[in-house]
Amino acid sequence: MNEQNTNQTANQTPYVSVAIDGPAGAGKSTIARRVAAELGYLYVDTGAIYRTVGYHMSLMGIGPKDKDGIERCIDDVNIQIEYQADGIQHMILNGQDVTDRIRTPEMSMMASGVAAQDCVRAYLLDMQRELARTHNVVMDGRDIGTVVLPNAQVKVYLTASAEVRADRRWKELTAKGEQVRYEDVYTDVVKRDEADMNRKIAPLKCADDAEVLDCSYLTIDQVVAEMKAIIRRKTAQ
Ligand code: DC
Repeated sequence: MNEQNTNQTANQTPYVSVAIDGPAGAGKSTIARRVAAELGYLYVDTGAIYRTVGYHMSLMGIGPKDKDGIERCIDDVNIQIEYQADGIQHMILNGQDVTDRIRTPEMSMMASGVAAQDCVRAYLLDMQRELARTHNVVMDGRDIGTVVLPNAQVKVYLTASAEVRADRRWKELTAKGEQVRYEDVYTDVVKRDEADMNRKIAPLKCADDAEVLDCSYLTIDQVVAEMKAIIRRKTAQ
């Protein structure tokens, strides 16, 4: 991408980082995946990494608020990210592909719970930074622009109303054959916002230098186009 300002000094890397943060269900993964594919960047879904940690803890019978249990087990978590031909970010937990098991409402709450623990965030920080140090990335999560990649050249806070986000999540889950009620999905979305925005460590918030993009009434194509326009503007020489 020679037309882009690679911000080598600030990031100590010749690569471009696009940080996308925002609340649950805003469409971050859908948008980030498409933008990354269109630009030839690596897409990093950091929520999937927290989900994988949450999944491991649930296998061990450890609850999302069991600080001691999580601290005891975190060193047993060996996570690898594999990018396979299907274009999906596969999560490998201790040698096993758990990609299909981490997308349930239970794992959403587990992920949000373990993500509030210092030891989990510290454990995952290097993994995320290393990916950005070695690739052009579009990375989505909650604290990417504020904590993980504070020097990212592009920061976007992607949001939408809680009703719209719950509706999208509900459609996604029911399309996969899950029997869930909209009311329950809405309650989970609001609970997760509350937990992610109010935790002590690396809470979800909009970085001072992020562009806010409210996609409540935009189509996926419109959001992708807007995102690419922001990236072009921010990385133009
Ligand atoms: O993006 P997601 O819904 O898959 O994320 C699941 C949970 O993981 C989310 O509720 C909070 C946590 N998370 C986080 O704390 N920091 C990130 N960078 C990504 C996710």
